[in-house]
Amino acid sequence: MKTIGVLTSGGDAPGMNAAIRAVVRTGCESGMRVMGIRRGFRGLIDGDMYEMNLRSVSDIIHRGGTILYSARCDEFRTDEGINKAVDVCHEVGLDGLVVIGGDGSFKGASDLSKKGIPCIGIPGTIDNDIASCDYTIGYDTAMNTIMDMVDRIRDTTESHHRCSVVEVMGRNSGFLALNAGLAIGATCILVPEIKLDIENYVIDRMRRTQKTGKEHFVILVSEGVKGIGSVDELAKYIQKHTGVESRATILGHVQRGGSPSVRDRVLASQMGNRAVHILIKGIGNRIVVTRSDNILDLDIYEALSMSKTIDLDLYRIANEISI
Ligand code: F6P
Repeated sequence: MKTIGVLTSGGDAPGMNAAIRAVVRTGCESGMRVMGIRRGFRGLIDGDMYEMNLRSVSDIIHRGGTILYSARCDEFRTDEGINKAVDVCHEVGLDGLVVIGGDGSFKGASDLSKKGIPCIGIPGTIDNDIASCDYTIGYDTAMNTIMDMVDRIRDTTESHHRCSVVEVMGRNSGFLALNAGLAIGATCILVPEIKLDIENYVIDRMRRTQKTGKEHFVILVSEGVKGIGSVDELAKYIQKHTGVESRATILGHVQRGGSPSVRDRVLASQMGNRAVHILIKGIGNRIVVTRSDNILDLDIYEALSMSKTIDLDLYRIANEISI
């Protein structure tokens, strides 16, 4: 391998910059040229890239977002788009590629690998919804951001004896909601993985805790939960059926920003370094993951066929103690 490329794709996540830094530094220190591709697969198709060096990644380990920018690229989902990207790789002389992103990005990475461009995926998403990987880059920071934000909401909720219904991200997974919900002591945590039962879970539980003297409540809702309408509607429903004045908050994109946590910086550095060492061996179609605190790499097809779900015991604990 003489020249490799690195790109970030899909929703950005805190720690992506630390991963880029690790890829660039490992590549340069191994004697390779490293090209930074802007705006993910869109930039690859357009040939929008520049040569990076040790200093191009100075002072970014602590920064949220991605210095390479990110995008979701529909054209790359077509055969024509993939072929254009392969042509660009040949023109520029890219011998391999590191793709930092989520499941959709890995599908693209495996398509490119099949066409002879070895690609290594690094899981970067706040949702933690990569089945083969215990912890994705950005997940820890996002959970801490949610915790910080909801702690603030809790202050005012308590002062006014209210119920706050807070929506968090996660796409179709409840990892963020469950872990952050336990950490902030939410009275109820609604996640897509658990069948929705507003009457028995939310209303009855609130009434029961009201009888023990509790006067303020936080209900954390994962954005993937279906059947509640909007969080605003849920707050109105709760107010009507419990008599507790209720307010809704959607945390939104604040969850994707901010300086990455120690855990995300370390993980990103380990994964970036590992990805380049795999490419150096000329191997492609792998994804770097963390499983039981070990950094491993797996075949992308195998990784994409895996499944994982939220920790049901954590859900039980949250419900047993947040009462
Ligand atoms: O995948 C990360 C994520 O932040 C999800 O949690 C959320 O559903 C989605 O991206 C939001 O995407 P966009 O940035 O396009 O609004």
